[in-house]
Amino acid sequence: MADCLVNMIRISNGSTLKRQVRAFILVFLIEATVCQIRYSVPEEMRKGSFVGNVAEDLGIDAKRLKLGSARIVSGDSNEYIRLDVDKGTLVVGEIIDREQLCGQTSPCSLNFEMIMMNPMQLHSVVVEVLDVNDNAPVFREKEMHLEILESALPGTEILQMSATDLDVGVNALHGYTLHPTTHFNIKVLSSPNGHKYAQLYLAGALDREKEEKLLLTLTAVDGGEPQRSGTLKIHVTVRDTNDNAPVFTQAIFKASVIENVPKGTLVVSLSATDADEGMNGRVTYHFNHMSSNVAELFILDENTGDLTVNGVIDYEENKIYEIGVLAKDQGGQSTSTNVIIEVTDVNDNAPVITLTSFSSTIAENSPSGTTVAIINVKDVDSGKNGKVSCSVKDNIPFTIQSTLKNYYTLVTSGALDRERNPEYNITFSAVDDGSPPLSINKTITLRVSDVNDNAPVFEQSNYEANIMENNSPGLSVFSVKAHDFDSGQNARVSYLLIDTQMNGNPISTYISVNAETGVIQAVRSFDYEQIKTINILVKGQDGGSPPLSSNTTVKLSIQDQNDNPPQVLYPVQTGGSLVAELVPRSADVGYLVTKVVAVDVDSGQNAWLSYKLQKATDRALFEVGSQNGEIRTIRQVTDKDAVKQRLSVIVEDNGQPSHSATVVVNVAVADSFPEVLSEFTEFPHDKEYNDNLTFYLVLALAVVSFLFITCVVVIISVKIYRWRQSRVLYHSNLPVIPYYPPRYSDTLGTGTLQHVYNYEVCRTTDSRKSDSKFGGAGSQNVLIMDPSATGTMQRIQSEKSILDEPDSPLEVRPLTF
Ligand SMILES: *[C@@H]1O[C@H](CO)[C@@H](O)[C@H](O)[C@H]1NC(C)=O
Ligand SMILES: *[C@@H]1O[C@H](CO)[C@@H](O)[C@H](O)[C@H]1NC(C)=O
Repeated sequence: MADCLVNMIRISNGSTLKRQVRAFILVFLIEATVCQIRYSVPEEMRKGSFVGNVAEDLGIDAKRLKLGSARIVSGDSNEYIRLDVDKGTLVVGEIIDREQLCGQTSPCSLNFEMIMMNPMQLHSVVVEVLDVNDNAPVFREKEMHLEILESALPGTEILQMSATDLDVGVNALHGYTLHPTTHFNIKVLSSPNGHKYAQLYLAGALDREKEEKLLLTLTAVDGGEPQRSGTLKIHVTVRDTNDNAPVFTQAIFKASVIENVPKGTLVVSLSATDADEGMNGRVTYHFNHMSSNVAELFILDENTGDLTVNGVIDYEENKIYEIGVLAKDQGGQSTSTNVIIEVTDVNDNAPVITLTSFSSTIAENSPSGTTVAIINVKDVDSGKNGKVSCSVKDNIPFTIQSTLKNYYTLVTSGALDRERNPEYNITFSAVDDGSPPLSINKTITLRVSDVNDNAPVFEQSNYEANIMENNSPGLSVFSVKAHDFDSGQNARVSYLLIDTQMNGNPISTYISVNAETGVIQAVRSFDYEQIKTINILVKGQDGGSPPLSSNTTVKLSIQDQNDNPPQVLYPVQTGGSLVAELVPRSADVGYLVTKVVAVDVDSGQNAWLSYKLQKATDRALFEVGSQNGEIRTIRQVTDKDAVKQRLSVIVEDNGQPSHSATVVVNVAVADSFPEVLSEFTEFPHDKEYNDNLTFYLVLALAVVSFLFITCVVVIISVKIYRWRQSRVLYHSNLPVIPYYPPRYSDTLGTGTLQHVYNYEVCRTTDSRKSDSKFGGAGSQNVLIMDPSATGTMQRIQSEKSILDEPDSPLEVRPLTF
């Protein structure tokens, strides 16, 4: 047996197939023995590429090959290598892929035999396929996804990755590189069987908030020339961990809110951000710390952070609110801050008025400027809204003055008069300076107390009243009334009669006035014929202190009553003496015989007299003038007429009822006096009667004269005695009203005499003065008793009366003939 030296042709790197390395091929040319020849050829050579010159290497002629019908037998690889018998060379029959042929086995050889006939020779040929770097390293996937928590610690191993390279030897996988390596890196490790893999680990801290997605490129390289590589894209997603707390957008929130805004008004929107994602970044808002009452005023929306009003915001209660708030994420992190809410004042409070001191009454004479009340006015609003001004409404004499801050005094600004305004409703108002302004009114009732500044006022400044004479004493005549505009005791009027004298007597002896009612009463019965009018002064005085008073005059007129019958003055009616009017027989018709003169002390109608012929001896001869009382003949006197005619005339006044007096008039119808005498003495009865009468008359005259002298003596004695007594004792006021007969004169010729009355009071016992006068003028006091008069006329004439009317002496004309 002979070993064949096989030439080994080495084609370096397979890239240039021209480079051949001739190996030794040991050809053992042994009969029936196999000689082995070795060649090498790079993979991936083109078809027909030269592998080795077998003939030459076997040392045989190329023809031998032909002749011997050399052919390649056995082996699967006969299609890869072909024998070119013409050239005696082995060429590539089919492109050889080493990786396909041998995989990772190395070296990779094609073993076959070449057989030749004639003689039969068997040669073993080994063709080694040389690796060419025709495969790049390959990862199983081109891309992969990876999630990693951002909280992972540096150094943490994450993943092993490997690539494969079908090539072998230097062309096989050589190593890995990673890009970028900011956060991650790799370690290249080898497995026990020599396979290399990459261990990915975390090189630096992750922050999802900065970089959420990372792209890593892992490159696997082989050692071939040129080098081939494969890459793997690693998509890293950094998973969030709650490593961020929410952050408020402002360090502190400031807001302002107007007081009294409605519920739901937005005050401020809180806002916080959280860099984390998902629930870790979902922020909710909460109250943190505040007093419970504030919690009722505001509401915080958990989700939106809107802080809204939920109650009544009152500036006056709280001017500023500080609320702690919290922003929370759902991963348990939180941040707090404060919200400062300033409340803006609104003019929502009216001023409040308080009466600090107040006197409800004021005297009407209080001077202007008197303090009535002290008022305190407050407004809890601030600024202009709390600035208050005060004033008095209406046009009343009061004004408000400002004293201290918030204090006002209400003072009078004019004169008060209770009689005009007994009460004031003082309304004052306080207005603040807000917009719109708020105001308040307060009314106080002030009573003006009375001062006695009004005197009583009589309803009339003078009064006139009538009173019938002959009244009963105590009769209420009239009443006066006075009003006083003051009140109470100051208006209580009492009536006083002012003391005056009337006829020398105090007026109070005639009239009295009821102090309470003002009723005027007669103290005594009045006689018109003596007193016709009474003038009194009444004083009305109030109960004030000092009292005020006023006067009024009252004129009381006394009314006449028909209480006196007519008195016949002429002809004087004598008892027995014959007085007759003489009518000559020659008298014509209408001859004035005489005139009946009568008076009536009453007045007016009561004194209006009329005359009538009541009886007559011959009614046809005489008539009486009804108005003037003149008796006249109404026919011619004849001789047949009786000498002695007797007429009875009735005198009537016009009063109701009327009074009358009768007078008898004797008329002698004769031509001579002796005829009359003889005629009148012809009556024997009459003569006897007249004698007796004469006697009685003389007697009566004597008695009366005696009584008169006695009386005068007695009166004078008594007067002197009393005068002496009164010097040491008392005065008596008992008045005596004497009666003075009227003076008269027939001036009108009406028969009614106009008379002038003169009444004087004569005090029988009065003051010494009047007594002395009385005594001194005693001789002038005359008492005349006229027996021929129907009544006794008493006359006491005072010295004064005589002095007053010296030329009208009071006397009785003796009407005798
Ligand atoms: C004051 O007010 C009272 C009660 O309102 C009323 O009765 C009275 O008449 C008023 N007085 C005046 C003077 O207006
Ligand atoms: C009232 O009468 C008195 C006394 O006569 C008098 O002094 C006073 O002046 C009078 N007053 C008036 C107002 O007439």
